[in-house]
Amino acid sequence: MSLKSFLYLMIATISVMGITYYDFTPSVSADSFANTFKSFSVTCTKCHEMRNPKKYEKATWIFNVKRMSKRAKITSSQKKAIIGLWEVDGISKKVAKWNNRHPR
Ligand code: HEC
Repeated sequence: MSLKSFLYLMIATISVMGITYYDFTPSVSADSFANTFKSFSVTCTKCHEMRNPKKYEKATWIFNVKRMSKRAKITSSQKKAIIGLWEVDGISKKVAKWNNRHPR
């Protein structure tokens, strides 16, 4: 194999690895987390403090978000995203921090 074809092969391999890595990055990106946390903090704190998803069993959290989404008048994609907060690492800390900064 010539040096030139070897280099082309390397470039092709690295590109494929890059695309694969990109495809398998977690679906909850930092950007979508920021948006979800924003709508959570705007729509879910009108009547009570910010609730910590992890204080509930997952099924109970889902039940409550579905119930509350009618009160909060959020879209179904916002509802799904807020349900997904249960899975986010360190969510308890983020909620506690938000509540400390926004005493009611
Ligand atoms: C219009 C007012 C209002 C909005 C907006 C609201 N809630 Fe509530 N929420 C309440 C009230 C009142 C209670 C307590 C009575 C009850 O459980 O229904 C409550 C209770 C809860 C509970 C505790 C239930 C339990 O059994 O301990 C959770 C969790 C909760 N809300 C989450 C949310 C989330 C998430 C949102 C945003 C999607 C939200 N709430 C938006 C009024 C609201």
